[in-house]
Amino acid sequence: MVRKPRVFVTRLIPEAGLRQIVDACDADIWRDPLPPPVDTLKAKVADCDGLVSLLTDRVDAALLAAAPRLKVVSNFAVGFNNIDVPACTARGIAVGNTPGVLTDATADMAFCLLIAAARRVVEGHQYTLAGKWKTWEPLGHLGQDLVGRTLGIVGMGRIGYALAKRCRGWDMRVLYHDVYKNEAAERDLGARQVDLATLLRESDFVSLHTDLNEQTRGMIGADQLRKMKRSAVLVNTARGALLDVEAAVAAVRARHLAGVGLDVFPEEPADLGRYAEPRILVTPHAAGWHPALGAKIVEGIATALRALLAGSEIPYRVIPTELSFQR
Ligand code: GLV
Repeated sequence: MVRKPRVFVTRLIPEAGLRQIVDACDADIWRDPLPPPVDTLKAKVADCDGLVSLLTDRVDAALLAAAPRLKVVSNFAVGFNNIDVPACTARGIAVGNTPGVLTDATADMAFCLLIAAARRVVEGHQYTLAGKWKTWEPLGHLGQDLVGRTLGIVGMGRIGYALAKRCRGWDMRVLYHDVYKNEAAERDLGARQVDLATLLRESDFVSLHTDLNEQTRGMIGADQLRKMKRSAVLVNTARGALLDVEAAVAAVRARHLAGVGLDVFPEEPADLGRYAEPRILVTPHAAGWHPALGAKIVEGIATALRALLAGSEIPYRVIPTELSFQR
């Protein structure tokens, strides 16, 4: 009888996909709601052929050294900055991610934060619940329109494109900053590629959609925020470390920015209490989550694991030049 590959799954993931892994593998599933501690993870991978990791699991050289049989790491995410891809590649370990699966959900959340900040939804919510609403106020709670305004997308990949497409529905003008030219965005959405300073200066709404790597880490700090319009809204659903969050919060408090919408933070889970200000909208790194998506992600992972068993190439293999590991 052929031995089923042994796989450690670092968290309970949606049942539909999990079943596929359990069927194909000798699977050990970590059922605790919190991630396995580093030493436990090391012990778990010691005899594993495959690892299904989450963003909260650091897959670095030290972990790989404890996993002599490991052949595939399948990340339950589009981003893979938790994985040292070159270290995996050097040991012949394939790394898979799940591109495309979370595109619409993430673009929806970016749009949701953007319009909620523009229309001051959280302020209105708190005001109403606090019993401060005494009469209809023609001069109160004035938000901003989206129609006809300028959207600046930093990182015009799949998710940036999906947000731009939504905003074109609001007749917004789209600028983008990226190292690559996105011909489809230019052709389909009339997007214009500009340098970062121009984007920050001209945009009414700025949304971050680039991956985290050594070039993009901290790319929006106090100096960049100062270039933005005082009426501007900044949204980050990509990776927390792209933005100096404290500088962004200070800018909102000083009314140098109209609002921010943050789904991601440099340290997660973040201590969100310190962002208690209604113009600072926060969500718990939830942009990509949607009931239908978990199963699709795991399907990708299960396919990768099956391909590994069959000795064929895994889909969505992350190549080491896309390096974005947080050292
Ligand atoms: C979520 O942040 C992901 O990268 O999938």
